[in-house]
Amino acid sequence: MAGRSVVVGVGHYLPSRVVPNSEFEQTLDTTDEWIRTRSGIERRHFAADDETTSDLATNAARAALKDAGLEADDIDAIIVATSTADLTFPSAATMVQARLGMTKGFAFDVQAVCAGFVFALSNANALILSGQARRVLVIGAETFSRIMDWSDRSTCVLFGDGAGALVLELQDGNGTPDDRGILATDLNSDGRFKDLLYVDGGVSTQTTGYLRMQGNQVFRHAVEKLAKTAETALGRAGLNSADVNWIVPHQANIRIIQGTAKKMGLPMERVVVTVQDHGNTSAASIPLALSVGKERGQIKPGDLIVTEAIGGGLAWGAVVLRW
Ligand code: UT7
Repeated sequence: MAGRSVVVGVGHYLPSRVVPNSEFEQTLDTTDEWIRTRSGIERRHFAADDETTSDLATNAARAALKDAGLEADDIDAIIVATSTADLTFPSAATMVQARLGMTKGFAFDVQAVCAGFVFALSNANALILSGQARRVLVIGAETFSRIMDWSDRSTCVLFGDGAGALVLELQDGNGTPDDRGILATDLNSDGRFKDLLYVDGGVSTQTTGYLRMQGNQVFRHAVEKLAKTAETALGRAGLNSADVNWIVPHQANIRIIQGTAKKMGLPMERVVVTVQDHGNTSAASIPLALSVGKERGQIKPGDLIVTEAIGGGLAWGAVVLRW
């Protein structure tokens, strides 16, 4: 008998304001055509002025709890993956905890930028398997619209706001790849690549900043590293690409998603794609895609899923799970 962290609920929340590519044509030297063909993005959601990351996260958490048929009191821990928390401290996770009316357990944020949800899932799994929590709410939530330089056409057309959440629960398994739940994880980072993707301000430097990215450099690393981390995690689970029902990738660029699937020898029919509707929502993109993929009827119980992501750090990784 082996313990497994099994997904028992999933949900998401998107702010109501939808911004089509054409809106950027009015203020920037760009076109809908360029954005679509270079990134695959057609529209994205932006949070309202009075809407914060913890608001988005709380709404996604409520949807996931409802899907699981659970109350906040049934949860032992909350992890929020975000790089855009409401305040420097306390964590967005403790704000969500309070908003859900949860007075026991513990809550904290994980910051690994676009790879944040993969890092949060891996940490939640470790907490569950080591007996420190039985049920963990794992949330990815971002308001990247707040860190955009609206005069930089090479970045501001790419990102969006949103949140997604999973409820993980300890269940018995057989210790085989047929088990439901998280089967393997792979995490990596390499701080030498800081300058490829960063925000040029922060508390300790007493500045506020904007996202800066050398997009084509990040692109090169992404295509090379994502298939590798996915295959490493699959190998740890005793599986390979042929066993995968769905790749649920970080949604940054359709060309990266296609390149990774191709390297893994899988057709696009086996990839959940939401980038056209959400843009790049950083740590929120994978749980958003899992939730939308389930809603669309793509992801079904028993399906083998590999999630993979890369972002600022650079930080990257993958999680293999059976739904
Ligand atoms: O989520 C975290 C990880 N981030 C990523 O995975 C993002 C990775 N990178 C990318 O998705 C792509 O590199 C981009 C979508 C950012 C850019 O696509 P690209 O094919 O790598 O284009 P590029 O950066 O090489 O730029 C090509 C041209 C440049 O013009 P020149 O120098 O060739 O004259 C840019 O100035 O496109 C120009 N350009 C634009 N043109 C119209 C850049 N942004 C725009 C724009 N509209 N919005």
